Amino acid sequence: MRLPDDLRPAAEKYRAWITGFLAIGKEILYLSQDDVKSIPVTPHEIRSLAEKALVAYSAKQVDMPPKIALHPIRDTFFHAMPAYVPGEFAAGLKWGSCYPGNMKTFGYPQAQGLIIYNDHLSGMPLAVMDCKYVTEIRTAAVTYTAARYLAPKETETAGMIGCGVEGRQHVKNLETVLPNLKRIYIYDIVEKAADALLADLQPAVKASIVKASGYEELVKNSSVIISATVAAEGYSPVIRDEWIGGGKTILLCEGHTLYEDAVYKRADKYVVDSREQVEQFVQYGFYPFGHPEIYAETGEIAAGKAAGRESPGELIVGNNFGMAVEDMFVVRALFDRALEKNIGARLPL
Ligand SMILES: NC(=O)c1ccc[n+]([C@@H]2O[C@H](COP(=O)([O-])OP(=O)(O)OC[C@H]3O[C@@H](n4cnc5c(N)ncnc54)[C@H](O)[C@@H]3O)[C@@H](O)[C@H]2O)c1
Repeated sequence: MRLPDDLRPAAEKYRAWITGFLAIGKEILYLSQDDVKSIPVTPHEIRSLAEKALVAYSAKQVDMPPKIALHPIRDTFFHAMPAYVPGEFAAGLKWGSCYPGNMKTFGYPQAQGLIIYNDHLSGMPLAVMDCKYVTEIRTAAVTYTAARYLAPKETETAGMIGCGVEGRQHVKNLETVLPNLKRIYIYDIVEKAADALLADLQPAVKASIVKASGYEELVKNSSVIISATVAAEGYSPVIRDEWIGGGKTILLCEGHTLYEDAVYKRADKYVVDSREQVEQFVQYGFYPFGHPEIYAETGEIAAGKAAGRESPGELIVGNNFGMAVEDMFVVRALFDRALEKNIGARLPL
């Protein structure tokens, strides 16, 4: 995809603005995880950027080749995730990995990596930054966007399966899209992860956070069920089809790991971030029984090209596996603000 001619003057203006802060071609901005976390942005801004990214992707206004993947050990992956967003003058690459056993084996988080952000007019690198926090906030923001269109506005109960990095980020601001929540059920196979989430987040969350005894209690009591656990190859479901009544909104961060296949297959609407990416992951072994018929992409629904939830009784599954374009929208905003606020270190090229 090329930069449209009519956008060239604005692209040059943006580049000139950057040169007021950074000597492009001579130095880069390095943003550590703490630097990225210290950049002032609101949950509302990030959610709105995630929604723009989903819409732009589905409208084919971005260049985003499929992820290039390495799978060194079962259930692990490295993903090279490049994206170019001409309308945002943003181009770059996330090189991220996911090692579910990391905490136990090495004491490291399961998801980590780096982002390289480039000047799309010259190709020069502008910044290198930690990707963990970017991934964290943009993934929750994608789920919030899905919830906004797929769940009833008056939803009073939600459930969060997996209380790690993503689980915590999801629970933190869920009320910004589901303002009537009264209870958020949480469950983690590691009980202390659920205990820590409850202790740390309850003071700032209006709804009561309730520790569920297991999957059954959580799914039966929650209208919206979000999960962020482990993206596993193969099939070993822990959530039974018979527990899932109509009207639920199931939002997955890890693909088809947790539920019996029948749940996905009988959903009234099966929504994904990217049709192309789902096909790609079939080849990697993530959908052993194939994927259900895809109703629409999340970005098509957000753009009003397909209906979201149409009736209270619909069973809707949203499977958003994550896209580089979401990172690039957020990275552009973070990079600009880091320059303005003088955050990060300059490194010579
Ligand atoms: N869709 C996306 O864009 C996107 C982005 C980032 C991460 N993810 C996925 O989200 C998941 C969570 O990532 P994270 O960074 O929060 O990891 P994390 O390791 O910080 O947290 C995962 C939590 O899930 C718990 N868990 C594992 N298996 C479970 C199970 N079967 N039932 C209940 N709890 C279980 C773990 O004990 C842990 O507390 C991963 O699968 C990752 O690939 C998706």
